[in-house]
Amino acid sequence: MGKKVVIAAMPDLKKASQRRRENTKFVLDEIIIPSKLSMIVHDKKFFIRTYGCQANVLDSQNIEGILLKIGYQKVDDPLNADFVILNTCAIRENAEDKVFGEIGLLKQLKANKPDSLIAICGCMTQQPHIVDVIKKKYPQVDIIFGTHNINHLPQLIFDAITNNTRIIEVYSKEGEVIENIPCHRDDHFKAFVNIMYGCDKFCTYCIVPYTRGKQRSRKIEDILKECKDLVDQGYQEITLIGQNVNAYAKDLNLGYDFATLLEEVAKLNIPRLRFTTSHPWDFTEGMFKVIGQYKNIMPALHLPLQSGSNDVLRRMGRRYTAEDYMALVDRLRELVPDVAITTDIIVGFPNETDEDFEKTLEVVRYVKFDSAFTFIYSPRVGTPGAKMKDSISLEVKHQRFNRLVDTLAVDIKAKAETYINRIVPVLVDGCSKKNDSMLSGYTDTFKLVNFKGNQDHIGKIVNVRILEAHTYSLIGEEVDG
Ligand code: 5AD
Ligand code: SF4
Repeated sequence: MGKKVVIAAMPDLKKASQRRRENTKFVLDEIIIPSKLSMIVHDKKFFIRTYGCQANVLDSQNIEGILLKIGYQKVDDPLNADFVILNTCAIRENAEDKVFGEIGLLKQLKANKPDSLIAICGCMTQQPHIVDVIKKKYPQVDIIFGTHNINHLPQLIFDAITNNTRIIEVYSKEGEVIENIPCHRDDHFKAFVNIMYGCDKFCTYCIVPYTRGKQRSRKIEDILKECKDLVDQGYQEITLIGQNVNAYAKDLNLGYDFATLLEEVAKLNIPRLRFTTSHPWDFTEGMFKVIGQYKNIMPALHLPLQSGSNDVLRRMGRRYTAEDYMALVDRLRELVPDVAITTDIIVGFPNETDEDFEKTLEVVRYVKFDSAFTFIYSPRVGTPGAKMKDSISLEVKHQRFNRLVDTLAVDIKAKAETYINRIVPVLVDGCSKKNDSMLSGYTDTFKLVNFKGNQDHIGKIVNVRILEAHTYSLIGEEVDG
């Protein structure tokens, strides 16, 4: 007989899509640790795997902060752990398939260590049909929680252990801003800082507004305090994170916006300031002014295009045209001549015609992106896109995808080649993944560089002469001064 399942809360996509007019609610210090829990988990080890975007990376840093506070130790091998957490992504079906594969592999952990715990959280578990599948087909999973109740994790662990039950607690709600959750950063010179949660755009292909709730911005004073602490600790780079950063504070009505925040963070003198993701529709004159004015705002912008066809953009609910997008790129290049522009593009949105696809290629050739994430459209249960009829075969979608990647690669390689013989600033991340006699890091324009250099300079910004260019990375050597 399997363990009893306790359902404290099940997700509901309809509820998740509600948007009331009320302003954001703020909650402080909501972490309650049951008094006996630290004794129970003393000396126990956890492993966490994070899938998906930076929102998940930050959630995992909060989960790690909570688990370290309870008394768990972090390990790098799931089979060595007493508690395994998979923080999942729901953006496309292939992201979900990977997680199901990994849950399958964790059967081995349960066989070796019957007392171990497995938890699944993140965007996948915010979807009712996924929770049903995990509940029925994956009895090895003990705890299912969501993106809105990370702060309940201590209680969920305590209940799962002391009652020996499986627990499902996933809330579908617009959500709050919870401040003061512990946060553990492995990296000591590069930090992500959340400035907002959720998304109100409801692009018709996207599951995020359902899995992460309403747009909720943090207050400017809380963000600035966190950034100031990072600067004081010697961090070299801060990336402001949100699904829609340039819509920051629209939900607060407090008289400030993203331009205000960006300027205030830039003034803290962090050597490198980045932000992602921006929506092409939400830029203002004030933002352009700040971007052009501060040298520590890095000349690299991620600007999702999604499609170059105005008809597809309209059906995606993107609120801009291809012409608006190209004018925006022109404007940014006027302000910051060397700015690197990267993007996301989806091919095979329902009923995308050959002409629509050609228009995407036209915009790609016009903009000459520095890099791009490309995706084949994946219908997501509960989104308007999933209800649209689609007459385009998967074969055609794959052909278009390959053509898109080839078209992008021409300009990406040409851009990379312009770096040859230049000396560029690189923030050194560490040893290169493929060759530990080399270092690796990113230029101000967010190009990956592998180079020969001094290991003592890890965590510092150094000058690197570029010797060779590949499509997705540069090769160089550190130079003095
Ligand atoms: N299918 C394919 N790609 C998607 N994205 C978001 N939803 C889908 C989907 N249903 C892409 C978008 C977005 C990026 C993070 O993922 O391009 O910008
Ligand atoms: Fe999804 Fe659109 Fe929101 Fe981005 S802006 S998270 S694509 S709904």
